[in-house]
Amino acid sequence: MSFIKLDEYKIHLGYFGEDLRDYLDKGNYNQVFIIVDEHTRVDCLPFLKVEMGSVSTKIIEIQSGETNKTITTCTQIWQKMMERGGGRRDLTINLGGGVIGDMGGFCASTFKRGMDFIQMPTTLLSQVDASVGGKLGIDFAEIKNSIGLFKNPLAVMVWPEFLKTLSPRELRSGFAEVIKHSLIASAAQWTELRQIEKMEVVHAIKFLEKSILIKKNIVEADPFESGLRKVLNFGHTIGHALESNALNSDEPLLHGEAIAAGMICESYLSLKKGLLPQDLDQITQFLLKQYGKCEFGTDSYSRLLALMQQDKKNDTTEINFTMLKSPGEALFNQIASEEEIIASLDYYRQQ
Ligand SMILES: NC(=O)c1ccc[n+]([C@@H]2O[C@H](COP(=O)([O-])OP(=O)(O)OC[C@H]3O[C@@H](n4cnc5c(N)ncnc54)[C@H](O)[C@@H]3O)[C@@H](O)[C@H]2O)c1
Repeated sequence: MSFIKLDEYKIHLGYFGEDLRDYLDKGNYNQVFIIVDEHTRVDCLPFLKVEMGSVSTKIIEIQSGETNKTITTCTQIWQKMMERGGGRRDLTINLGGGVIGDMGGFCASTFKRGMDFIQMPTTLLSQVDASVGGKLGIDFAEIKNSIGLFKNPLAVMVWPEFLKTLSPRELRSGFAEVIKHSLIASAAQWTELRQIEKMEVVHAIKFLEKSILIKKNIVEADPFESGLRKVLNFGHTIGHALESNALNSDEPLLHGEAIAAGMICESYLSLKKGLLPQDLDQITQFLLKQYGKCEFGTDSYSRLLALMQQDKKNDTTEINFTMLKSPGEALFNQIASEEEIIASLDYYRQQ
């Protein structure tokens, strides 16, 4: 077991049983809520229950999936907390991927003005990214994460064994954030990653700590995203628009799949701005090989642009991007025109 210390909390990496019992003893909580979905109830909860020992818990099960990261599901969670007489002296453990982490943390932080919560991320994406940095929230009016807050958890517990029951598609989706961390902050890690033919759990475990450290260093330097933290948005301005656009379609995209496409488009924008002089093709080919292509036509361009405009990363009417200077080095607060964005979507579609 090792841990990564942030200013206000620790990320425990590896077996967490003793530390968890320690938090429970020190907190002397009235009761413990555990939020799960139908997958983590089967694949992850039995392990956690053993580690909880005789502590009495109330399981709150929600339906998995981004389409359920809504105020309706929050109402169900709050209702269950209310029925059980929940309050500020309770603890919530969010046992799941980024959807449960974001939404469970949001519910715990707002119920009766907030109780402690522990993030127990069970997907690669949530272990390296979503559970670190205190961003909580839900989707609203078809805009991803448009309602939420910054609030740090009591602790984050990353148990790599949880990754073994993830589907290959979900594992690959999580890898997109590992790739993003390399592209914005570590040329050496990008070089190593590019050697991977097919992403497997062993690769995920290999890059877990390094990737968490990249995110940790960035969020600690800028907890409320007033500057540097924006580099983490690389791939996300166009990626979120693609994800939102596909959300209610017959073929919704996983978060990482949309971000992979977004990273290709935003690397293209970087090149058009005179940055990233020689790596666009390598980045494009690697991401396409791993993720394939997500399909969208020119008829979605105006909706995609409208979604980008709504993005909460924009302070003004201009659309804000993070671009790459080179692999391992990113620049935030970059602006691209509508024509340039459309050209980047054309570039992607023509691959
Ligand atoms: N807060 C942040 O800083 C931040 C950063 C990045 C992403 N996010 C958010 O994270 C969300 C995506 O997270 P995600 O990719 O983890 O998706 P997810 O939470 O939807 O989980 C993906 C699927 O995997 C299943 N699952 C989870 N753990 C499992 C396990 N161990 N074994 C088997 N199945 C398991 C879930 O039930 C679900 O069906 C998005 O909503 C995104 O906005 C937040």
